[in-house]
Amino acid sequence: MDWNPMNGTPAVTRLARYTGSEFDEIRGDVVDPFEVKGSGLVWRPTEEHFGIRLDGRLVAHAGCVPVPLAVGGAGIRAIGVGSVIVAPGQRGRGLARSVVASAVEHGRGRGLEHGLLFCRPDRVPVYERLGWRLLEGDMRVEQPGGPIVMPLRSMWLPLREGAVWPGGPMRLLSLPM
Ligand SMILES: CC(C)(COP(=O)(O)OP(=O)(O)OC[C@H]1O[C@@H](n2cnc3c(N)ncnc32)[C@H](O)[C@@H]1OP(=O)(O)O)[C@@H](O)C(=O)NCCC(=O)NCCS
Repeated sequence: MDWNPMNGTPAVTRLARYTGSEFDEIRGDVVDPFEVKGSGLVWRPTEEHFGIRLDGRLVAHAGCVPVPLAVGGAGIRAIGVGSVIVAPGQRGRGLARSVVASAVEHGRGRGLEHGLLFCRPDRVPVYERLGWRLLEGDMRVEQPGGPIVMPLRSMWLPLREGAVWPGGPMRLLSLPM
């Protein structure tokens, strides 16, 4: 693994592409690492990709894409973070923390004030450790057959001091990422 000499964290690189073969490289022989296949949800791909390589092998990834939301009466553009995965043998070493931080930084650099992600309830503590906050209440998201209530947990992250999540009904105006 390459390390960032400035702060001792693993070096994260911007990936030119993230396709099925990069996903396979990370997941190894784990068939459904996200454990959300049973949900039947249809996802949108992320657009920017951040990864960590260890001896030439990709071992961690986080993707992001700006997404539009309507929350209460407000329109928000958030950086949607998704496809966060660390190779099974490399977990617990801060790699998710590093790739998610890069995706968040990308959103901040685009002037966005909110991060958004969806995860299973058992992944909530991981993101809480990274500063993300659980959103109470239902979030409606687009699906091919029309909007549905997201069955996974929704979490947000303020990207600048003083950023708040507006109150009121939450609707993601796109497929989830
Ligand atoms: C979830 C996942 C990405 C975490 O990757 P990781 O590299 O082990 O995470 P990190 O080492 O960066 O840990 C980040 C923080 O979460 C904590 N954490 C990690 N796994 C945890 C768990 N299972 N329960 C509670 N906290 C956990 C760590 O202690 C760390 O906090 P700390 O730095 O304050 O100690 C990894 O387990 C994975 O790829 N799982 C399968 C795919 C998946 O579920 N992706 C998420 C989809 S939303």
